[in-house]
This record gives sequence, C-alpha cells and structure tokens, in this order.
Amino acid sequence: MKKSITPYVCHIFICTNIRENNPEKPGCGTRGTESMKTQIKEMVETRGWKGRVRVSTTGCMGLCSQGPNILIHPQGIHYSEVTGEDLPVILDAIKL
Ligand code: FES
Repeated sequence: MKKSITPYVCHIFICTNIRENNPEKPGCGTRGTESMKTQIKEMVETRGWKGRVRVSTTGCMGLCSQGPNILIHPQGIHYSEVTGEDLPVILDAIKL
C-alpha cells in the first residue's frame, strides 16, 4: 500500500447510483445527477479550479430518499434534494 496526501483541495462527490430493480428506491442517478456532474465539471473549469477540485461520482451515500445527494469534502457538507439551480450555491461554499 502507498499512502499520500490528496492533491485536491476539495472533492465533490455526486451520487449517480441507479437501482434498476427497485422502483420504490430508484436512486439519485434517476434524478439527473449525471447531467449535474457535467454541469459541475464545467463550472469547476470556468472557475479555474481544475486540478484543485475533483468531481467524482459515487454509489449510494445512504440518504436515497432525500436525493439527489452531493457531498463536498473536506468541508463535510452534504446537500440533499439538489436541483440544477442549486449547483452554483454548492460551488460558492467551496473556498480555495
Ligand atoms: S442512491 Fe443516492 S444516496 Fe442512495
């Protein structure tokens, strides 16, 4: 195992989980999170944060009923019920 310090100042995790066999809990990925990821990546690039802020998809973060869910680290802020209109507010919470 190799251990190192992350090169990123901030990591944005967006749940894209889809449960195809569970219509009662379909997952964040059925609520537009792939599109949100694309939008966030564009915003990160526009703000000149590329290389310092990483956008990653995740599996379920355990708060499915409140999705779509996005987590920013190391701020430790979990956003639920996110819409596309919320994305600038989420990025504004990141201070580099
Ligand atoms: S499916 Fe997104 S938090 Fe569970």
